[in-house]
Amino acid sequence: MGYAKVLLGVLLVSALSISTAQPLAPFKCSKAGSTCTALIDYVSPNKTTLSVIQNLFQVKKFRNLLGVNNFSSTASENQTISAQQKIRIPFTCFCSNGTGLSNRSPVYTVVGGDGLDHIAAEVFSRLVTYQEIAAANGVADVNKIDVGQELWIPLPCSCDDVDGLKVVHYGHLVDAGSTVDGIAEQYGTTSSTLLSLNQMTNASDLKAAQVLDVPLKACTSNISSTSLDYPLLVAKDTYFYTARNCIKCACDPANNYTSLKCEASGLKPLSNWTACPAMQCEGAGNTQYIGNVSSSGCNQTTCAYTGYDSQTIFASLVTESTCPASDGTNGGIQGLRWNFLFISTQLIFICLHLSH
Ligand SMILES: *[C@@H]1O[C@H](CO)[C@@H](O)[C@H](O)[C@H]1NC(C)=O
Ligand SMILES: *[C@@H]1O[C@H](CO)[C@@H](O)[C@H](O)[C@H]1NC(C)=O
Ligand SMILES: *[C@@H]1O[C@H](CO)[C@@H](O)[C@H](O)[C@H]1NC(C)=O
Ligand SMILES: *[C@@H]1O[C@H](CO)[C@@H](O)[C@H](O)[C@H]1NC(C)=O
Ligand SMILES: *[C@@H]1O[C@H](CO)[C@@H](O)[C@H](O)[C@H]1NC(C)=O
Ligand SMILES: *[C@@H]1O[C@H](CO)[C@@H](O)[C@H](O)[C@H]1NC(C)=O
Ligand SMILES: *[C@@H]1O[C@H](CO)[C@@H](O)[C@H](O)[C@H]1NC(C)=O
Ligand SMILES: *[C@@H]1O[C@H](CO)[C@@H](O)[C@H](O)[C@H]1NC(C)=O
Ligand SMILES: *[C@@H]1O[C@H](CO)[C@@H](O)[C@H](O)[C@H]1NC(C)=O
Ligand SMILES: *[C@@H]1O[C@H](CO)[C@@H](O)[C@H](O)[C@H]1NC(C)=O
Repeated sequence: MGYAKVLLGVLLVSALSISTAQPLAPFKCSKAGSTCTALIDYVSPNKTTLSVIQNLFQVKKFRNLLGVNNFSSTASENQTISAQQKIRIPFTCFCSNGTGLSNRSPVYTVVGGDGLDHIAAEVFSRLVTYQEIAAANGVADVNKIDVGQELWIPLPCSCDDVDGLKVVHYGHLVDAGSTVDGIAEQYGTTSSTLLSLNQMTNASDLKAAQVLDVPLKACTSNISSTSLDYPLLVAKDTYFYTARNCIKCACDPANNYTSLKCEASGLKPLSNWTACPAMQCEGAGNTQYIGNVSSSGCNQTTCAYTGYDSQTIFASLVTESTCPASDGTNGGIQGLRWNFLFISTQLIFICLHLSH
């Protein structure tokens, strides 16, 4: 009898594993050793709060959890999140061996009654399989985990450019009934980009609860490659706090979703800074602070945030031309005319030459 129960248990567990394990291609990430910010969806099985989600994923800056979800920056940590509501989680991606994974984080501590499959399927809403958790943590026997044991959850991600553009890779949890075309349209990309990025050959292979790598357009920034927050990828319609909370950057319609707009956040700094360092551009006649914009004709000069290190926040003046592009187009047509004239002349010479 007891044996039958155990057998039944084993059968049930196997059946469950087959239906929940999604054999997915890992996200491609070619630049070994690179790190960046990535996003992934999370769906809580139960009604919960933002602070519980922040703790589960160990999101360091609560404001960035708000920012990537386009929530108001004054939302409370006690804000209720309904069961099944999708929340985007920001995390640091680390690339190695051709793929990207969250950088040994978040760490989950096993509680009584947990099994690896429960942790993967219920606690982390199938963002990973139990096999992936086992492999990442060197768990030899997937049925043997101990209360109090710490497991890091390897969330899929990437830092690669897509079609030559800087993007934020978003691990999108596919809803039942979604199509590749629909997802592409919703997130401003194309079906062929989604298919190739996810190593899929046929759009009809899309499955509900699959974690799809969706590239979100990111605003360009003037961040230096030596900055601690390089490459500072901020997706369309989101905002992000950086430089130990001293700087707030937004990628929004006010700047046409093209260049990242950064300014002093007005917040107290995190970590060992007692106050935010000076945030001004050198050299300008009048002192310009990060975020100040001045215009001269159709040139627009911005004092742009360019990064930070353990002591300093860096800024520099960046001039962009907002001149109408029509001059360039005319130039192009004129150029074509000259080319045409040149080629015609050459042809006439060739004809003359041949006729001799
Ligand atoms: C969600 O609620 C169910 C009972 O309704 C409970 O068994 C489960 O542990 C809860 N899950 C989480 C992650 O709190
Ligand atoms: C983000 O929030 C702003 C202000 O609340 C709103 O105008 C905008 O439409 C939102 N964007 C998205 C993509 O939801
Ligand atoms: C959130 O709730 C806790 C306990 O219920 C309370 O102490 C705290 O002040 C609340 N935080 C905010 C921002 O409302
Ligand atoms: C790198 O990936 C290959 C194939 O995907 C695998 O065989 C190898 O063990 C991996 N190496 C490391 C260090 O993870
Ligand atoms: C994609 O899959 C569907 C259904 O399995 C099939 O009918 C179709 O021919 C496939 N298309 C290609 C290009 O393989
Ligand atoms: C700022 O960024 C723009 C767009 O990426 C680039 O063209 C420009 O050279 C950069 N300027 C500075 C001063 O870094
Ligand atoms: C934003 O983009 C639109 C269309 O691309 C253009 O007409 C408009 O002038 C741009 N605005 C700014 C402030 O660059
Ligand atoms: C320049 O930026 C500072 C600090 O953010 C702000 O107080 C000031 O009003 C800005 N000046 C202009 C002209 O925008
Ligand atoms: C705009 O900037 C260009 C170089 O970037 C410069 O040649 C031009 O004189 C500037 N125009 C004005 C009105 O400042
Ligand atoms: C803060 O700590 C870092 C090391 O973590 C150190 O390099 C830096 O000098 C410290 N900054 C200040 C202002 O004490």
